[in-house]
Amino acid sequence: MNTIEEQGYTFQEWLMPDQIAKDVQQVADQISTDYKDKEPLFVVVLNGAFVFAADLIRALKDVRCEQTFIRVSSYWGMSSTGQLEFIVPLQQVVDNRDVIIVEDIVDSGLTIHQLKAHMRGLGATSVRVATMLFKPNKLEYDDARPDYVGREISDEFVIGYGLDFDGFLRNLPSIYKVKEGTK
Ligand code: PRP
Repeated sequence: MNTIEEQGYTFQEWLMPDQIAKDVQQVADQISTDYKDKEPLFVVVLNGAFVFAADLIRALKDVRCEQTFIRVSSYWGMSSTGQLEFIVPLQQVVDNRDVIIVEDIVDSGLTIHQLKAHMRGLGATSVRVATMLFKPNKLEYDDARPDYVGREISDEFVIGYGLDFDGFLRNLPSIYKVKEGTK
């Protein structure tokens, strides 16, 4: 097993590219079945999801679809419904569209909770979520439970395959977990 040293932490290889490809294919197959007669719009949440999204859309079978990108920062402001800051705003009309939000990881679920409400507010016909990784133990918003999951993980820090450490290491083809007790 490969390890990577970064800023005093040791990361251990957890999912290799062939395992990731199987997980992605299983998600793509489910979406291909569910959206056979639809024309979904994939809304890819930058930055982390771009790697998973690129593999996912190419693994679909006979799904006529479009893709667009969004980058948000979510926080709780004065409003009890929370606030979304659009760093890269939505470029495409989602009114009357079947939207699939694509994430690299769903953690607390805040980002998805807010994005789903936003898409519905813009008139999306349906909004579902596909994510490579999901931390069920960390979920704080039940409506953010993803519909399509590559793999569930416990509360561990992961990098690679789009997931970063201070902006770096997204390009690693495997997913690595931090080794406990390092640093
Ligand atoms: C990560 C991830 C999700 C969000 C998940 O993004 O890509 O968008 O956090 O966390 P949540 O479920 O608690 O909302 P991050 O803000 O790290 O940005 P990045 O994708 O650019 O790395």
